[in-house]
Amino acid sequence: MKREQWGSRAGFILAAVGSAIGLGNIWRFPYMAYENGGGAFFIPYLFAMLTAGIPFMIMEFSLGHKLRGAAPRAFAQLGGKFEWLGWFQVSIAAIIAIYYVAIIGWAISYLGFSFSQSWGDDTNAFFFTEYLKLGENSPSQLGGLQLHIAIPMIIAWAISFAAIFSGVKAGIERASKIMMPLLFIMVLALIGRIIFLPGALDGLTYLFQPDFSKIMDAKVWSAAYGQIFFTLSVGFAIMIAYSSYLPEKSDINNNAFMTVLINCGFSITAGLLIFGVLGYMAQEQAKPITEVVSAGVGLAFVTIPAAINLLPLPFIFGPLFFLALVVAGLSSHISILEAVTSALIDKLHWTRKKAASVVCGSGFVISMAFATNGGLLLLDLVDYFINNIALLSSCLIELVIVAWLLKISDIRHYVNSISEFSIGRWFEVCVRFLSPALLAIILFTNFINTFN
Ligand code: PHE
Ligand code: NA
Repeated sequence: MKREQWGSRAGFILAAVGSAIGLGNIWRFPYMAYENGGGAFFIPYLFAMLTAGIPFMIMEFSLGHKLRGAAPRAFAQLGGKFEWLGWFQVSIAAIIAIYYVAIIGWAISYLGFSFSQSWGDDTNAFFFTEYLKLGENSPSQLGGLQLHIAIPMIIAWAISFAAIFSGVKAGIERASKIMMPLLFIMVLALIGRIIFLPGALDGLTYLFQPDFSKIMDAKVWSAAYGQIFFTLSVGFAIMIAYSSYLPEKSDINNNAFMTVLINCGFSITAGLLIFGVLGYMAQEQAKPITEVVSAGVGLAFVTIPAAINLLPLPFIFGPLFFLALVVAGLSSHISILEAVTSALIDKLHWTRKKAASVVCGSGFVISMAFATNGGLLLLDLVDYFINNIALLSSCLIELVIVAWLLKISDIRHYVNSISEFSIGRWFEVCVRFLSPALLAIILFTNFINTFN
C-alpha cells in the first residue's frame, strides 16, 4: 500500500508546529524564563535552540523522510538492531497521550466556566476542592470516576480520534490548518489588548529584565536545554512519524528551521501574554509580581482564572485564553497519538481505521484513571518522570545511536542534497559532541535530584 502523504508543505509545517506548540509553550516557557535570569535566559535558550533544537529536528525529519516509517520501522532500518528504541519512544508517547488528555479535559471544563467566571473568587479552592475534589479522600470516593472530569476528556478524545481516524491529509492536516491559525489569531488578540492594561508593562519588565549573574549558573543552561527538547516534541517518535509522510521532494533543512523558529517565537509571544496578565494582576491587587507568578497547572487553573476575574470584559478574555489552551493541547495530543498509531500500522499492517480505534479506545479507557480524585497526584508523578528522565534518556540514546553508530555525515549529505540551503559541519559537531555531552550532564543531575 502506498504511504499516505501530506497535501502541502504548509500543511506539514502547521502539523509539526501544532505538535511542538502545546501546553508547555504557554505555561512552562514563561515561567522558566522568569526563573532563570529573565532576559538573560534567552542567551542559553537561543544557544540550545541552535545547537540542539535545530540539529535534532533536522535529524528526525531526515530519518522519517528517508526511511519512510514511524519510529520503530525507521530505527529498524538503521541496521535491524535498533527497533526497540522506536518502541521505547512509542511507549513514552502512549503514556503522554494518556495524561496529556486529562489536562486538555480540564481546559475544556474551564472554557465552559470562563463565560461566566463560575470559578468564583477563590480560584484555588475551586480548582482543587470543588473541581478536582482533592479533599474528599473518603474510601468510597477514592478511585470513583468523576463524571464532570470524564466528560470533557471524552470530548478531547473524540476530536483527536476523528483527526487520526480520517488520515494524514483529511484528518491531521485539515485539523492543523484550522487550529493553528486560530491559535495564532487568538493569542495575538489577547496580547493586543492586555499589553495596554495598567501594570502589564511592569510584568514584561520582570520577564525580560536580564539577571546576568545567572548566565554562569549550570542550572540555567540545563533548564534551557531541557525546555528545548520538551517543547520541540523530539525524541517522542512524533516528528519521525510526521516526516515519514513527506513527499520525495521536500526541503528538510528549511522545514526544520521553520518549525523550530515558529515554535520558539510562539513561546516568547506566550511569555508576553502571561507576564502582561501577571503584571496587571499584581498592580490590581497591589502586590509585588513575585507573589503572583506561578507555573504549570497552578498558573492555568488558579492564577489565570483569578486574573480573568479582574480583567475588563472577562467573558471575552476567559474563553479566548482557554480555547487557546484547548487548541494548543489538542494539536499536540493528535501528534502523540499519530506516533503510536503509525507505528502499529507499519508493524501489524493494520488499516489506519483499525489502528486509530485500538489506540484511542484503549488510551481512552486507561486515561479514565485521571478522572478520579487521585488524578492530580498521578499526573504530577507521571509528568515528573517523563520530563526529567524518560524524554532526556530517549533523546540521548537516539543521539548516540544515530550520531555515533551510524555515519552522521551521511545524514548531512542527504539533507543537503534535497534542501535549498545546506548545513555545515557544525551540524555534526552539535549532534555528536555538544548535545550528547550536555544531555548526559542534565540527565545525571536529574537522577541525583530525583533520588536524593
Ligand atoms: N511540545 C509540547 C509542549 O510544549 C508537549 C508535547 C509533549 C507535545 C509530548 C507532544 C508530545 O507542550
Ligand atoms: Na512546544
